Amino acid sequence: MTHSTRWADRFMVVFSLVVIGLSAWSLSRSGVFDYTLHQDEKLVWYLIRSSGLVAYVLLLASTIWGLFLSSQLVKDWSPGPISLTLHGTISWLALLLGFGHGLLLMFDDYFSYRLENILVPFTGPYRPESVGLGTTAFWLILAVTLSFPLRKRIGNQLWKRLHYLSYAAFGLVTVHGLFAGTDAEYTGFRLLMSVGVVLVVLLLGMRLGKDQAQSPPQTARKGAAR
Ligand code: HEM
Repeated sequence: MTHSTRWADRFMVVFSLVVIGLSAWSLSRSGVFDYTLHQDEKLVWYLIRSSGLVAYVLLLASTIWGLFLSSQLVKDWSPGPISLTLHGTISWLALLLGFGHGLLLMFDDYFSYRLENILVPFTGPYRPESVGLGTTAFWLILAVTLSFPLRKRIGNQLWKRLHYLSYAAFGLVTVHGLFAGTDAEYTGFRLLMSVGVVLVVLLLGMRLGKDQAQSPPQTARKGAAR
């Protein structure tokens, strides 16, 4: 990353924080926060479902974009630093929204979730197995996302290995959504998940095929060692 790109990044972060701060300030002055989560008994439930769905779409987008990057499908039309920043940013957004989605359970009057039930997998009162997969996926995504800024320190090899966890996380979140989600009964929801899984599997297959075609044959390596 060049010096000017780093400064552009920092400027964007500060600018976004100022915009978010000003928006929050003006919203609080307008009195919209007075309409608390408990004024409508179903509001929290709707928020849990919608935030889960958006977090899933972001995770899907980040996984697909990551596969585009590693297969070098976008290298001719998207500059490397921008592509990587986009990938990292979408991952962080998916993670934050996924966490917010879990935290909202603490405000749901229907269940009695505590913070430890959100953080420790398979301990909550509602469908502990399938909900636990969401928590496990959250920790995996956190490990992968934290590795973005640590890439130089931990080395390329470990960074790449850590990145394979994101496919496991994507699989776990898909099962989580299908078995824990209220909306899993809707065709649109299942269609979204099916298209997502098919795309990820296809792109992953293409990428592994490309890797294999590029690696030198076994005999040639043996010959070179002699
Ligand atoms: C990045 C991580 C996560 C993603 C992408 C995710 C995604 C989803 C999706 C797509 C649904 C289905 C929503 C619907 O029916 O429309 C869902 C449901 C659910 N998730 Fe997550 N989830 C994540 C993490 C978590 C965590 C950490 C918890 C906390 C324990 C959790 C608890 C739940 C529960 C209880 C439901 C069922 C909600 C309902 O339909 O009543 N999820 N999640």
